[in-house]
Amino acid sequence: MQTAGLFISFEGIDGAGKSTHITGLAEAFRAQGRAVVLTREPGGTALAEKLRDLVLNDAMDPLCEALLMFAARRDHLQQVIEPALARGEVVLCDRFTDATFAYQGAGRGFDLAVLRQLEQWVQASTEPGARLRQPDLTVWFDLPPAVAAQRLAGARLPDRFESQPQAFFERVAAGYGARMQQDPGRFARVPSDRPMEQVWLAVRQAFEQRGWLGAEVTK
Ligand code: TYD
Repeated sequence: MQTAGLFISFEGIDGAGKSTHITGLAEAFRAQGRAVVLTREPGGTALAEKLRDLVLNDAMDPLCEALLMFAARRDHLQQVIEPALARGEVVLCDRFTDATFAYQGAGRGFDLAVLRQLEQWVQASTEPGARLRQPDLTVWFDLPPAVAAQRLAGARLPDRFESQPQAFFERVAAGYGARMQQDPGRFARVPSDRPMEQVWLAVRQAFEQRGWLGAEVTK
């Protein structure tokens, strides 16, 4: 029997420290013999990476921003995510639709009903009667925006989102909280205002609890 694919997304405000843990998880899954696809949104395909460049750097209105996020997502789902899941692989995706609800919805104040409609269209399955495609698990790195701001200060040149004021990130963080409330079983909230090793342990635990990773061998 073929192993079932696993679709995992990673979320949090800018500066929450997702990247290191995503790489660590890829290694852990590969060590167990699983094929892993590491990818990101917006992006993950040639077309979606072009859209990423536009949406992170060019001025545009919120509807345009939301449409481009979902256009990139559609291509990414069709070209990369769905085929990998069909092959039984583990897809580790740096951000997915919760980011659109948090950033465009809560952060920018864009109409959530329109976002829900786009989510229905873009994540619809081609199989009749199948449920909407959603991650099997979303790891939410929850970090107070004031701490994130300190971490980001003086990092690299900020993009259109990273340059937003702290109040924007307060709204984004609340937006993630609201998404989690609507579908708590899909989320693992990881408090991230603590040393990286502790955050890593909490991340690992979320996967071990679900039986997706074996207990870590201590070095
Ligand atoms: P990010 O994932 O933080 O990548 P990097 O680590 O290279 O900065 O950057 C992507 C940015 O795009 C981030 O600021 C959040 C934003 N974003 C949205 O506003 N909406 C979305 O739907 C997605 C996927 C990302």
